[in-house]
Amino acid sequence: MTKNLQYGSHSVSVYDSREVLSSAAAAFIYADTQKRLKEQERYFLALSGGSTPRALYSELAADYANKISWSDLEIYFGDERYVPHDHQQSNYRMADETLLSHIAIPEEQIHPTPTDCGDIDECTARYIASLSHLPQRGHAPCFDLVLLGMGDDGHTASLFPGSRPLLEVHQPAASAYIEKHGSWRITLTYPVLNAARRLLVLVTGKNKAPILKAVLTDPECDYPIAGIHNPGGILWFIDSDAAEELLE
Ligand code: 6PG
Repeated sequence: MTKNLQYGSHSVSVYDSREVLSSAAAAFIYADTQKRLKEQERYFLALSGGSTPRALYSELAADYANKISWSDLEIYFGDERYVPHDHQQSNYRMADETLLSHIAIPEEQIHPTPTDCGDIDECTARYIASLSHLPQRGHAPCFDLVLLGMGDDGHTASLFPGSRPLLEVHQPAASAYIEKHGSWRITLTYPVLNAARRLLVLVTGKNKAPILKAVLTDPECDYPIAGIHNPGGILWFIDSDAAEELLE
């Protein structure tokens, strides 16, 4: 039984389980691509990394491989760990294994974040150049949909607390060394998240419940994900574990 909650510009749908949430997210993406592709030739999608979206990507591969018009999509990544694309930690590898290798999308319409050009600044510059193919909204590339997750420290993409990319107000992507994870990251920045037509954040698990309540209900909250100010608001698909402090 889905519950729908509204917290200011945050529209929250609560699902009984990660599986039900993933099915709902897949159906949402299908409906949104169908609607937008009636009005435009290309649909620009940014995938999230981490573990939560794995079930969604598997669902898209299993049930929507022949329903979504994949050859009309351009797929990018919200963030990437600065590792080879075949590395266990690579968001590209996770998306390729669960989705991209199972759908009919031309390779040139998949835009992995470069991590193989020897220098993270060069890789970031190349990713920024690839983002220039998107329609612009104001001065930022405009995705039709950016999928995001949220860490239990309130980060999203690789916008981590105290990290330099939080301060980037011009470039659509930036890099940072994330001490907590002992890794370099390349991430989309607030200008892109604020320019996106839709943002869909997937959050599951009890460990996210306290942070989620703060982000949705505390106006003084300064977690990175609370720093997004998209005029269209943020759509959240969460499971009942993540919602437990909202529904108490
Ligand atoms: C990454 C993600 C990151 C993720 C959150 C939540 O590269 O790890 O882009 O922002 O969405 O850390 O991760 P889980 O889904 O694994 O909880």
